[in-house]
Amino acid sequence: MVNLGEPFPNFQANTTVGPIQFYDWLGNSWGVLFSHPSDFTPVCTTELARVIQLHGEFERRGVKVIALSCDSVESHHAWANDIKMYAKCDSQDALPYPIIADERRELAVQLNMIDPDEVDAQGMPLTARAVFVVDPNKKMRLSILYPATTGRNFDEILRAIDSLQLTDKHRVATPVDWKPGDFVMVQPTVPDQHIPTLFPYTTVIPLPSGKRYLRQTPQP
Ligand code: BEZ
Repeated sequence: MVNLGEPFPNFQANTTVGPIQFYDWLGNSWGVLFSHPSDFTPVCTTELARVIQLHGEFERRGVKVIALSCDSVESHHAWANDIKMYAKCDSQDALPYPIIADERRELAVQLNMIDPDEVDAQGMPLTARAVFVVDPNKKMRLSILYPATTGRNFDEILRAIDSLQLTDKHRVATPVDWKPGDFVMVQPTVPDQHIPTLFPYTTVIPLPSGKRYLRQTPQP
């Protein structure tokens, strides 16, 4: 189990692009690792196809993507043809991201990605749908865990990465349903006297409490 802000483990794995050491594979990029219960399952296929379609968006943000499913590399290669067809991409193209073969569920257990409510034909608990965002310092920056029966929204994952990358650079935080270009909030730790120099176009929203904490500013 890795908590926010902790180093993400440097695991070894077999993947559709051969054996990898996670840190070497990641290099100086951001990374997203997302897990799946098993190959040739309907929801997983739609998710992996969506990630093919969004792959350019991840690249534009300097993010490498890696999937994980609890079947063999051979099974992943066979499944990739279905995924590519569903994504409406050229079947000759390679998958733009690797898939880890976590056949013995070692990583699923190490990273606490098990869904106890969903079991396979042998009665083994399935891997849940985890998403881990790792920064270039190999620190865990975001984690979400969905049960096997609920597919994820990868537009939301891109939105969250935009927020992480923006708030790493500026002392702002992104409010509810924020999209790039929308107003942001000045972080509560910024003293009022620094606002005119740091964020000169800030508006303080009046509130019944009289407290001046809702300080909205254009996205830097
Ligand atoms: C699916 O990917 O469709 C799925 C996998 C495991 C349990 C339920 C759904």
